[in-house]
Parts: sequence; C-alpha cells; structure tokens
Amino acid sequence: MLTRIDHVGIACRDLDAKIAFYESAFGLTVASIEVNEAQGVREAMMHVADGPAGSSYVQLLEPTGPDTPVGRFLERRGEGVHHVGYGVTNVTAALAAMGAAGIRLIDERPRHGSMGASIAFLHPADIGGVLTELVQAPVTPESR
Ligand code: CO
Repeated sequence: MLTRIDHVGIACRDLDAKIAFYESAFGLTVASIEVNEAQGVREAMMHVADGPAGSSYVQLLEPTGPDTPVGRFLERRGEGVHHVGYGVTNVTAALAAMGAAGIRLIDERPRHGSMGASIAFLHPADIGGVLTELVQAPVTPESR
C-alpha cells in the first residue's frame, strides 16, 4: 500500500536559513515554496532524489505564528523531525484501510498538500508517537 517515503517533515524557526543549510550541506534543491494558511506554515520542499515510485523530499516547515500546530510543536519539542510522509497510490483507499485496522485518523478525508498532492494525517498515538502523513501525488509521480 505504501509506495515510498515521500518526505520527512522538519519543523524549523527560520525557513530561509534551513533552506540555505540543506542546499549547502546536502546539495538539495528547492522544488517549491508555499504558504499554507490553513495549516499556519510556510514550507519548502527540498528535492532529495527520484525513484521508480516517484520523488522524495525534505519538507521544511516554519510556523506563521506561535499559535499554530508547528508553532506549538516548536515550543514543546524544539526544532527537529515533525512527521513522516509516505507515498500511496490512492489516499482515500489507504485511509479506509488504516481506519479499518484501528488507526485513528486525524483527517477523515483527504485535503490539499504541497505541490498539488492529496494528503491525510494519521494519529501519532497509534503509530508509536510518529505523526504520519499519506501522500497521493497529482496525476503521475513524475509530475511532482
Ligand atoms: Co508533510
């Protein structure tokens, strides 16, 4: 059901500084920078590599304010890994299967994610404390 690791989401306080770090230290390139007002984040997808099931990224997340999910995460835990995003071919079907397996769903229905993807979050309490995201790429993996 899972096709790959699509991205690892990393919470940070200064997006531009973290972009510069990943560019210089790891040679990654910016695939997109977006502001998601609904989630209260400014984020960058840093391209890591392409594989047979699609591309993989580091997703850098800077909160737009302290009273946002990532803002509260930074306050509690500091900078670091925030969530893991897995690629799926059909996010609606994957949500149904995982819900049937007893995993609590943060999103009962898919919503809009980075770069046109359809995404949904699963509850970390049922996944060993790891906030987990399912990512369905738009149209083809190559188009992401
Ligand atoms: Co994500």
